[in-house]
Amino acid sequence: MKPSVLVARKVFPEVIERLRQYFDVEVNEEDRTWTPEEFIARLQGKQGVYLTPTNRIDAALLDACPELKVVANMAVGYNHIDVAACTARGVLCTNTPDVLTETTADFGMALLLATARRVTEGERFLRSGQWSSWSYDMLMGRDVHGATLGVLGMGRIGQAIARRAAHGFGMRVIYHNRRRLAPEIEAALNARYVGKEELLRESDHLILVLPYSPQSHHAIGAAELALMKPTATLVNIARGGIVDDAALAEALRERRISAAGLDVFEGEPQVHPGLLDVPNVVLTPHIASATVATRLAMANLAADNLIAGLGCGPQAGHPPT
Ligand code: DGY
Repeated sequence: MKPSVLVARKVFPEVIERLRQYFDVEVNEEDRTWTPEEFIARLQGKQGVYLTPTNRIDAALLDACPELKVVANMAVGYNHIDVAACTARGVLCTNTPDVLTETTADFGMALLLATARRVTEGERFLRSGQWSSWSYDMLMGRDVHGATLGVLGMGRIGQAIARRAAHGFGMRVIYHNRRRLAPEIEAALNARYVGKEELLRESDHLILVLPYSPQSHHAIGAAELALMKPTATLVNIARGGIVDDAALAEALRERRISAAGLDVFEGEPQVHPGLLDVPNVVLTPHIASATVATRLAMANLAADNLIAGLGCGPQAGHPPT
């Protein structure tokens, strides 16, 4: 008998077809985020779950779903999974690193450029019919080339951004991370390690690329924003909750920093109303890894992980003919 798995949100039909070779598959066809109660009900009798960042896995859910053995997360970030609770119950958790690194770094640069150069503000200005003539001071932004980029969180994506910034845009890169990089990596990226306070004070543009955890909750709040240059730009492509969105909205409104570009939000898909009210912020709906090739690679890697995690796959003589 094939193991049973639940696909918690819709993914590419070809990936579902692959999963059907190995498993009895139930798919969330309505593609809405289930409540925790609905999710638990759907997980009954399932040995595996194909997860996206929209559903949480916690101790209460695991206790209510004792047959669950593998959580295959179609994302690199896994703050929606209580990994310790999974480990304690012998549930294997997997994620999809590497395949999204370069695409997410591209988006980080796109959001930085759009924010510093007021791209979406300019489009709104034009579309609303306010553009009457060229003027020397219309929508002046901040230079990206040659500026100082601060990177908070220097993992794979942080390093891919630093490479683009240093080698593509001639930026001076400074970074802060839990662990300092090896000297040869720092040299290759042309990146200098600094303390967090120096990072905040020195950055012309600050990009957040660190994972969310209780330790990184509100890593950027009112006190940190107060240390930044009034001309600085802040970009968050990491996770909501790393930034205190209420404090950021106030800092933007009072022009205590120049602008922000945000792809992730506390409590998304809800967005703090203060952020919707200010012009100097570029808002995107958590799409940093959303290219056709990368989302397909993530989806296939999560499927591979589920297949291997449940002991199926070629080495186990599968898929069955
Ligand atoms: C990730 O992989 O963690 C992304 O945020 C999901 O798009």
